Amino acid sequence: MAGGYATSKVLTTAARIGLLSPPYDPVSPEIFSDNKKLPVKGVFLLLNALVALGIYEKRGDLFALRDEILRILEGFPGLIWDLIHQDHLYDVWGRLEMGIRAGKCPELPEEELKRYPASLETFLRAMHAHASFHVPDILTRLNWGGIGSILDIGGGGAGFALALTRRFKDLKVTLVDLHDAIEITRKMTFHEPEAPRISFVACNAFTDPLPDGPFDRILISHLLHIYTAQENQTLIAKAAQCLKPNRDMLLLDYFLNDEQTAPKEAVIFRLLMMTGTPSGDCYTRSEVHTWIHQANLVLKKEIPLSGGNTLITARKP
Ligand SMILES: C[S@@+](CC[C@H](N)C(=O)[O-])C[C@H]1O[C@@H](n2cnc3c(N)ncnc32)[C@H](O)[C@@H]1O
Repeated sequence: MAGGYATSKVLTTAARIGLLSPPYDPVSPEIFSDNKKLPVKGVFLLLNALVALGIYEKRGDLFALRDEILRILEGFPGLIWDLIHQDHLYDVWGRLEMGIRAGKCPELPEEELKRYPASLETFLRAMHAHASFHVPDILTRLNWGGIGSILDIGGGGAGFALALTRRFKDLKVTLVDLHDAIEITRKMTFHEPEAPRISFVACNAFTDPLPDGPFDRILISHLLHIYTAQENQTLIAKAAQCLKPNRDMLLLDYFLNDEQTAPKEAVIFRLLMMTGTPSGDCYTRSEVHTWIHQANLVLKKEIPLSGGNTLITARKP
């Protein structure tokens, strides 16, 4: 466990320098280094480490991605963005002790702020990839009959908006996010045939009015963990006003058990939120039940999803 970051860093560095990107052809360390203007020694050592980790294999003087890795990369092109995003998070994890000692997010170093918005685009593309992990469950575990409109609050990356409009040809999604995230998400999706059925609305969901609706369904995915309990309670009550009666709000996030010790991914993720964001945290399912109740909604289902996520649905009577 202690040295786990070493293999992680080998993988994410390979992603950063382009060893896990198309065209996925076998590489010669000399030619690759020349093309990327990198010293050959570093590339050669990294490729050998990737062989040791079972990602590449040696074929004579060339290094080739192993077949099963190639299948994963080709089958899931968005994965590369998650690998690069995980590499950005490495810096935040590096400040964990500072975060623990302060009990909050330490001041962000200047160089981290400078990476914005390049890192925002990577972040949103990674969010798109994460969302696609959950789409099959969301499609199969919920009833989508009669759903014509969705308000997706904090829907940047459009992972859900695109997948849902692709699946349901009459569906319209109103996607709300902060200004910069909306601009990048619009750019990421404009070439998609479904884009005309997605309305992009730049607004701060906590302080600005939400689009009126009313909507058949409201989705709030991975937004609550950025804000305080009080802010989340207010947002859920505000969003409930935009929902039609007899329709559901979907809350997807890393929710915790009452003891705050599981799921593992959520318990670990909340350390990242404390260290990397001003007021982020993960909340127990019981806290979410209270927010739902206070918004005059009725708890309907709790569906555990992969990676320590839970989908909580609540109905407006
Ligand atoms: C972790 S991402 C989740 C994206 C998407 N919902 C998903 O699950 O793939 C959180 C999103 O919420 C957006 N966000 C954060 N604060 C917001 C606010 N005050 N109003 C609207 N959107 C916000 C971020 O810009 C980002 O796109």
